[in-house]
Amino acid sequence: MSNIADNLRTYLHSSHLRLIERTSAVCSSRSEKIYLAGGVVRDVLLGTTPSNLDIVVVHPQYEFVDHLARGIGGEVVSRSQFDTFKIIVSSDEIDVATARREEYIRPGALPTVEETSIEEDLSRRDFSVNSMAVSLNQDSWGELLDPHGGEGDLKQKLLRVLHERSFIDDPTRILRAIRYAVRLNFHIHSETYRLFKRDMVYLQDISGDRVRHELERTMTEPFAWDVLLRGEEEGVLSAIHSGLKFGRIHNAVNTSNEQRVEGNDVVLAALIYFSSDVQMGELAIRLKMGTRWSRIVREVRLIKSASQRLRAPGLSRSELFTLLCDLHPEVIHGCAITTQDTAVKSSLYFYLNDLRCIRPSIDGDDLLALGVPEGPQVGELLDRLLHDRLEGLLSSRADEEAFVVNKLKGCLD
Ligand code: CTP
Repeated sequence: MSNIADNLRTYLHSSHLRLIERTSAVCSSRSEKIYLAGGVVRDVLLGTTPSNLDIVVVHPQYEFVDHLARGIGGEVVSRSQFDTFKIIVSSDEIDVATARREEYIRPGALPTVEETSIEEDLSRRDFSVNSMAVSLNQDSWGELLDPHGGEGDLKQKLLRVLHERSFIDDPTRILRAIRYAVRLNFHIHSETYRLFKRDMVYLQDISGDRVRHELERTMTEPFAWDVLLRGEEEGVLSAIHSGLKFGRIHNAVNTSNEQRVEGNDVVLAALIYFSSDVQMGELAIRLKMGTRWSRIVREVRLIKSASQRLRAPGLSRSELFTLLCDLHPEVIHGCAITTQDTAVKSSLYFYLNDLRCIRPSIDGDDLLALGVPEGPQVGELLDRLLHDRLEGLLSSRADEEAFVVNKLKGCLD
């Protein structure tokens, strides 16, 4: 059995290393077996620093988690129905789970769980590279448990499920497969790929919350665009809903680094831009969208419905500003990337790059100080100053003050 204590020391964030050393010490007088498991093991074997710590404890005795939290100076902040816990220590988080077996009554349903051994816990997992554990007990610190050949698959850059029903049990693994394939630059093993294609249909069975959560995770990846483009190529997005499509932006996104902007609102706006109104409505229901996502859908709809005005040759700078100023820049950006209409695209980029931050230099207090009486005239003047700034009729604070003074003297309309 190999020992990867060196990898832990080298690649774990120093505060994470301290935390697992303290965890090990706190548990030294107890009988439970404790492990780091899942992505954290994969990452340290790949020589990268994991962002989170997942600890698995086998057959914990009563109040194990509270004992652990107290011992490492942390606080248990959440407990789930599946015996998983989150402990916060200063600014770090540890996820603690009881080693468990999972049983799925039907595809996509949440599993029923039962306590079990670490080996069985590892065999319920998604891919071999995520199915390894490292002992944190003092007498076996750093020993690697790799019953499914995860280390070998890491070396061969392969994603492989552990059994034939893996994607049926949990169809979110289909999305996870493309996420890891792109992030790690791994191949999906041929048999796994056959199952991936075969079982994509089960994506229809998972709840809106679970699909949305998986999409959200994907959108925060640094390679979100690539993952989702791959998802579209493979038919994963359309298996979720026909309204999720990048359509014709494929080439644009593939060829231009400039457009690989991060931020999940940008990606979501781009992803739904080509959906019809009906599809957007259906998507909102299918993905059980909350306030933020619904707002993005609404704003994309607004931009699409303003297309005619956005492409009109005589559109003034202030009209363009008024059309877009209440919308989130990320959404405008997503639409700008996606639209194939060059006139609309240049209006959206012109707003984002040139107009969006234009404001008058003077504010309401300045106007009062210049002698404008309190009341509606203040707001009207501010609107006028903004308009003239946008149109390039005023270009400095001095211009603005002169404008206001002249206005007060009655020299202007
Ligand atoms: N897991 C699984 N099937 C899922 C989700 C998770 O088997 N549908 C298992 C995997 O072993 C995974 C671990 O649970 O490594 C933790 O899940 P998660 O935090 O989603 O994955 P990580 O690999 O830790 O995280 P990341 O994708 O951010 O690297």
